[in-house]
Amino acid sequence: MTERPRIQAAIGGLYSWAAPRVYEPVVVKGAFRLFGGNLTELAFDQGRRAVGTAAGRPILDVPAGTGYFAGAAAHAHPGIVAGADYAWGMVQATRRRAIAGLVPVQADVHHLPFRSGAFAVILCTNGLQVIPGLSGAVRELARVLGPGGTVYVSVLLASLGGLLPARTGRRLPTVLRGGAAVAAEFESVGLTVTAYRRVRFAHLFEAVKRQGPFSRSGGPGRGSRAESPSLDPNPRRARRSRRPR
Ligand SMILES: C[S@@+](CC[C@H](N)C(=O)[O-])C[C@H]1O[C@@H](n2cnc3c(N)ncnc32)[C@H](O)[C@@H]1O
Repeated sequence: MTERPRIQAAIGGLYSWAAPRVYEPVVVKGAFRLFGGNLTELAFDQGRRAVGTAAGRPILDVPAGTGYFAGAAAHAHPGIVAGADYAWGMVQATRRRAIAGLVPVQADVHHLPFRSGAFAVILCTNGLQVIPGLSGAVRELARVLGPGGTVYVSVLLASLGGLLPARTGRRLPTVLRGGAAVAAEFESVGLTVTAYRRVRFAHLFEAVKRQGPFSRSGGPGRGSRAESPSLDPNPRRARRSRRPR
């Protein structure tokens, strides 16, 4: 067994255990608020934007966890929301919600059981920081997203990577990397970052899949429009987005 499957299995076991017990009270209602301020409200807002963008077409939420955010999107969405998660306990928790249109699927984001371009929109809420292998995860998200499709991402980052040489930074776990490094991963798989916002440790991205061929060697931030308007739906409150860092 190589390193990633071992770490991944341990993470899956931990989340499966937490799903029916402590996950929502401790993580969603506690840790997300502590590290991301109004992250929960911002994540719900990303869900509403995802539903609007999808306009009835299929949405993928991965990792869906207990379906806390995926369920809210499914309530508002007239089409299918596939809620995929690696941890069986999380999939069971989503299933127990029994929300029409929300389809729980056990899957590793590195090997999603969907055809290329299957989804118009992807929600990836507060998950990339715990999933080993950022590049592979982002590449697979881009694969299952249709051309012109949008991905809404929130991720908690401690941003130690900015203090280290680039080569060392790339080897760090995602949680220790910065917003610019995550944006560069998106750009390298053909996703153009169209909006970015940071609240405490929470980094929120909106990215669109480019229609034509893309370069795997696109450098950090290349082609990025990360300074486009913030994700805040209220234009009066909306502040100018900063470049990811
Ligand atoms: C912090 S939770 C976020 C879940 C949900 N989006 C939320 O905000 O409540 C991280 C989730 O990632 C899942 N996960 C970890 N590795 C994964 C992988 N390789 N593929 C899919 N899900 C994964 C865990 O099981 C866990 O449910």
